[in-house]
Amino acid sequence: MKTEWLVHGEGPQGEAALTRAADLLRAGKLVAFPTETVYGLGALALDPHAVRGIFEAKGRPATNPLIVHVGSVRQAQQVVARWPRVADSLAEAFWPGPLTLVLPKADAVPAEVSAGLGSVGVRLPAHPLAQELILRVGAPLAAPSANRYTAVSPTTAAHVAKTLDGRIDAILDGGPTGVGIESTVVQILDGRVRILRPGAVSRAALEEVVGEEGQVLQGEVGKTGRVEKAGRAGEAMEALPSPGLAARHYAPDVEVRLVYPLEVREATLDATEKVGVIALQPRPFLSGALWIELPADPGRYASQLYAALHAMEDAGVEILLIEVPPPGEAWEGVRDRLRRAATRA
Ligand code: TXA
Ligand code: MG
Repeated sequence: MKTEWLVHGEGPQGEAALTRAADLLRAGKLVAFPTETVYGLGALALDPHAVRGIFEAKGRPATNPLIVHVGSVRQAQQVVARWPRVADSLAEAFWPGPLTLVLPKADAVPAEVSAGLGSVGVRLPAHPLAQELILRVGAPLAAPSANRYTAVSPTTAAHVAKTLDGRIDAILDGGPTGVGIESTVVQILDGRVRILRPGAVSRAALEEVVGEEGQVLQGEVGKTGRVEKAGRAGEAMEALPSPGLAARHYAPDVEVRLVYPLEVREATLDATEKVGVIALQPRPFLSGALWIELPADPGRYASQLYAALHAMEDAGVEILLIEVPPPGEAWEGVRDRLRRAATRA
């Protein structure tokens, strides 16, 4: 199939791109579109046939649930069976934005979307193009990150084309995304909030909203893709299935090794351009490594991380050394992505 490249910008051409993208989606086709986190691969969430197309194009196992993107809180309430009070507080505080709420699913949501689970992930994205698209389609859109299974998530239309060109109907190009890593995914169970995937919304920010009576639990995802340990201060929790969080994920097509800050210099001193380095420090004078220095601010780092991984892949480096970012909760989303990038299947 030929993938249409629809460039959005000011003026009538941008308008035509948006209209075409909405028309394709309404007809059950697959269209990649920008969100504030990464590009998503969209299809009608309530159309099982369209949703199956997403899994096919990505080569994604049917056991990985998809996030449903909505244009309003009202639309979110239509795809879930219950909307507890804490969902209201979280939506009020973080929507539109990079937070996905996992709640009991409404019957209208096909089993394909939720991978047969009784729950569904829902999110109101902050990107104006994503919002406008959902509004024009007039229905919620299921959208995983717009990359083939286990490839690095896309933050530009060109990244999408790298693995999905010829496999999807269109790419709506709205320029680079801002946040750069995927949304924080939380499950709401009995009024408690459990982080299934760290992301742009930090645990501290969640705790501030959920407050004393609610609790924010951190799930730790092991190789099996199940939450094996969870809880504050070692509190034991039962294992909780969390499909799609396989350890190897977000992985560039090159061997990745995490290196501690004090070892970066030594590890790269006599390196050639076959060695890629993503670091928080500048390239030592004598090193020939292909070097990308990222900002020491977690938000700005996240926003540039995937573009750096794509660039290293494109340059064909044989090994990629990534400096371990500093400790602290603000880096948790980034650390999670780096751990996965460094995990071989
Ligand atoms: O920022 C994002 O979240 C991007 C943009 C496009 O919105 N989307 C994204 O989708 O990252 P995806 O499919 O690559 O990752 C969604 C993850 C799944 O891997 C799964 O772990 C979790 O969200 N998820 C979705 N529905 C779930 C459910 N019902 N129960 C547990 N986890 C769920
Ligand atoms: Mg993904």
